[in-house]
Amino acid sequence: MACAEIDLGEVPGFWKRRHLLTLEELTAEEITLILDKASIFRQAITEGQRKFSLLAGKTCVNLFFENSTRTRNSFALAARRLGADMLDFSASTSSLSKGETLIDTAKNIEAMGVDAMIVRHSTPGTPKLLADNLNCSVINAGDGPHEHPTQGLLDILTMRQRFGRIEGLTVALVGDIAHSRTARSNIWGLKKLGAHVIVCGPSTLVSVRWRELGVETSYSLDDILPRVDVLNLLRIQFERQSRRPFPSVREYALLYAMDNRRLARTKPHILILAPGPINRGVEVTPDVADGPQSAILDQVTNGVAVRMAVLWLLLGNR
Ligand code: CP
Repeated sequence: MACAEIDLGEVPGFWKRRHLLTLEELTAEEITLILDKASIFRQAITEGQRKFSLLAGKTCVNLFFENSTRTRNSFALAARRLGADMLDFSASTSSLSKGETLIDTAKNIEAMGVDAMIVRHSTPGTPKLLADNLNCSVINAGDGPHEHPTQGLLDILTMRQRFGRIEGLTVALVGDIAHSRTARSNIWGLKKLGAHVIVCGPSTLVSVRWRELGVETSYSLDDILPRVDVLNLLRIQFERQSRRPFPSVREYALLYAMDNRRLARTKPHILILAPGPINRGVEVTPDVADGPQSAILDQVTNGVAVRMAVLWLLLGNR
């Protein structure tokens, strides 16, 4: 396939980033810049332009120590669509099993001529640790419950596409806030761009300390439904819980599952998002997940565009 041309416009002088580790550390201008470039890539994808040579000669590696469907594959697709080589590292079959340290492993992979390392790990701070020890760019693809910056960006891009703005929107993050890196990245990004954010779920998963980040807390989805513009439904992360934080899944679903009965009490323009994977019937019923208010698969398409923008801004703009 021939490489397509694309006009990505100027990159302002304030953009100096080598790594993308958190949305906490980005300014509103930097977040808007990524969203603007991602919108251009999204338009190109929609028009069927799939192959560019913007990162020809660059090499990226996926270094994932936790499972992934969306993030891992969309980073691979994004890198390849930009013309970069993509190396896929498999932790379970690597020499980590022989006692090699994480930093030694990463340094050896980098020595093969890697320009960007995309890292997912269960321990918060792992991408930062690697960024401090490597010369290549490091992108956080999810570090435990800490942050998942590209997920935050793609969620925010999907909201901006629907409403044309973020400022003034009321966005509710519903579900397992305690274990959610997506919640943290959404909060940092949305607050910087002027949204009002509500975190909602059982009190065992929504500490009042979240208010320190400037968000409202709620334990009743039914109470907040009429005043929200966006519902971002977060998965209950059973794998990160030593004890179940509610009596039964059925009880959770009765109070927090987004179903048609609840949908009828929302604003007509309500936007339903979920970072995925979704537990159908727990956070959201299938008719709502697959219904006209849902942009869940659009989020996935935007994920490719956001990751193209991030890779290009970190590597192509040097
Ligand atoms: N949303 C998300 O991070 O999905 P994956 O775990 O499949 O990458």
